[in-house]
Amino acid sequence: MLRQRGVQVIGPASGDQACGEQGEGRLLEPLDIIAELKHLVVPAALQGRHVLITAGPTYEPIDPVRFIGNRSSGKMGFAVAQAAQEAGADVTLIAGPVSLPTPTGVKRVDVETAEQMRQAVMRVVAGSDIFISCAAVSDFRPVSAEAEKLKKTTHEHLQLDLEPTADIVSEVAAGENEQLFVVGFAAETRHVADYARDKLRRKKLDMIAANQVGEGKGFAVDDNALQVFWAEGEATLPQAPKKQLARDLMTLIIRRFDAENTTENS
Ligand code: PMT
Repeated sequence: MLRQRGVQVIGPASGDQACGEQGEGRLLEPLDIIAELKHLVVPAALQGRHVLITAGPTYEPIDPVRFIGNRSSGKMGFAVAQAAQEAGADVTLIAGPVSLPTPTGVKRVDVETAEQMRQAVMRVVAGSDIFISCAAVSDFRPVSAEAEKLKKTTHEHLQLDLEPTADIVSEVAAGENEQLFVVGFAAETRHVADYARDKLRRKKLDMIAANQVGEGKGFAVDDNALQVFWAEGEATLPQAPKKQLARDLMTLIIRRFDAENTTENS
């Protein structure tokens, strides 16, 4: 009821309770309260802007019960959506199959496959100012999905025939909306900075946020660290909870977005 009346509620945090139980109900850590308060007093830099974000994995069906997927939980992308909403933007979040609550005030579209995500993005992107591609989109999918469940008894060996999916962020960056500020992510297990710079150029992005993944890093965990690159610069966002990191990333995006708009308009 308070939220409906426009009251901003901070917390509660989740974890060990004084009563011995686990779950939601803890007081937020003082530093988290300060971080929340900071964004409440920061002017809404993205007021009147539309931000489109993708998050989570995609599932590419093999048969009615099996799919090719990945370890993305959606936490990073959902945190970015929340940060954009807090910055005053009108936010559309296109989410792969994840079990996360929708951030307050964010419009969510659920999809499952890379192609569904592509179509959902293309429907909304024309009216957007910023596109942030945080989803771990499957690079390949089975050429055709079996109509019935594959049986172990009828296949001694099984080979999957895969084809590449469309590269959504590249297609958006090459699209007609020239004013659009396009941010990609890069999930790398090694040579993080080199591979990310290469993706920034190859996919013609305005900015890329790179994270190390694998061995308990990046995917599914609550903390992350990002190296952010754009044509003329870079920044390091050290290890922090994804919600905090998303706000810091959004601050960088707003700075670059404003700089590009000022240059173009002058
Ligand atoms: O969801 P979490 O568990 O919180 O984990 C967060 C994360 C690790 C998934 C996230 O921080 C992240 O790195 N997301 C991008 C994952 C990814 O697919 O990276 P990539 O390096 O393979 O792709 C590069 C860029 O191309 C990405 O912006 C991706 O969204 C985009 N892409 C990739 C393939 C494709 N077919 N279409 C795309 O648009």
